[in-house]
Amino acid sequence: MDKIELRVMKLTAGMLAIFLLALLYASYARNVGMPACVPYSGVFSKPHLQQIDSNTYEAFFVAKMWSFEPSDVYVPAGSDVDIYLTSSDVVHGFNISEKAVNLMAVPGAINKKTVHFEKAGIYKIVCHEYCGIGHHSMEGEIIVYDKTK
Ligand code: CUA
Repeated sequence: MDKIELRVMKLTAGMLAIFLLALLYASYARNVGMPACVPYSGVFSKPHLQQIDSNTYEAFFVAKMWSFEPSDVYVPAGSDVDIYLTSSDVVHGFNISEKAVNLMAVPGAINKKTVHFEKAGIYKIVCHEYCGIGHHSMEGEIIVYDKTK
C-alpha cells in the first residue's frame, strides 16, 4: 500500500468520525430527532378507542417505529370499528389479513376504513411496509370478545 492510499484512508476515516460525532452531538446535546408529523387533529395526541353507539366504535391508531398505539383494542363481537390511522415518523403498513384490511400509515395524513367484526377472536395487526430494523416485530391486536359469555 503506498503512502497516498494510506493518507486517503485516514482522511476518509476521519471524515466518517466527524459525521458520527456530529450526529451524536445533534441527537444528545441539541436534542434533534425525527420530526413528528401527527396531524393537527387532537384525537391523535392520545391514540384511543371510543364508543359511538351500541355497536360502533372509533379507533385512532398512531403507527411509529416500531409499534402501534394503542397496541391492543377490545371490542364486543358484532361491532363496526372505524379505524383512523396515521404515522408519527415514517410510512408504515397496517394489515389485518383475516379482514382484508390493507392500509398505509402516512405521516401527516389520515387513512380510514370501517371494519365489521362479527366473530370473536384475536385479529392480528401487522406492519407490512418495511420501516427499519424493528419492522418484523411491529404488530398489534384487535381483540373481539363474545358479549354473551
Ligand atoms: Cu412499521 Cu414496518
